[in-house]
Amino acid sequence: MNCRASEQRTFAPTSVSGAFDTSAVDEIASALTVLLANVFALFVKIKNFHWHGSGPHFRDHHRLLEEQGDQLFAATDVIAERVRKIAGSTLRSIGHIARLKRIADNDSATVSPRDMLAELLDDNRRLAISLRKAHTLCNDYGDVASASLIENWIDEAERRTWFLCETTAQCTGQIRHPFESLPGVSHENFTHKTHSALRGRSRIRRYRVAWPDRACGRSNRHHDGSAK
Ligand SMILES: [Fe+2]
Repeated sequence: MNCRASEQRTFAPTSVSGAFDTSAVDEIASALTVLLANVFALFVKIKNFHWHGSGPHFRDHHRLLEEQGDQLFAATDVIAERVRKIAGSTLRSIGHIARLKRIADNDSATVSPRDMLAELLDDNRRLAISLRKAHTLCNDYGDVASASLIENWIDEAERRTWFLCETTAQCTGQIRHPFESLPGVSHENFTHKTHSALRGRSRIRRYRVAWPDRACGRSNRHHDGSAK
């Protein structure tokens, strides 16, 4: 074997199961890679707020955000390795994260504790929705292992959302359902979509895993970053 052949052999993708065709690998790997970029972006934002918080509830907020940051960081390696297991490729750089992520940065020097928690609440809600869409995609392709992992991350996102919602309610004196004010997502259709996703589909459909738009609630971005 010459050097070139050896190099090609070294870097050739190897699927664990061989269960997925090229289009399935491309779509699932793309969806999981966008998810990974968003998880990294949310992790950095949470650490930012963890480090720069202030006020009478600083200790509680500081601890809450540390716990949530640890949870997100723990998911990153699992997401990336899942992509590699199906012979896909994933993130390679900070620049790659920046191109794919849909979590907005917040570089402001002064953000109130209430605004920090409200922003993280909104980000986690949208992350949960994108996780559900990725779950449906994986189910459609029969990738039950990815779907199973995603179910855990949905639960974690909803736990973060719950805690942020309750903590924000304490800050504002308002009580609200964790998903009630997300554009286009009422509690009722959220539940319906959940049940539909978990039932699975018998027929493979090709569609885009999009990120819910912050301003108008429309999902208008493909996972490769192009506009619909
Ligand atoms: Fe810390």
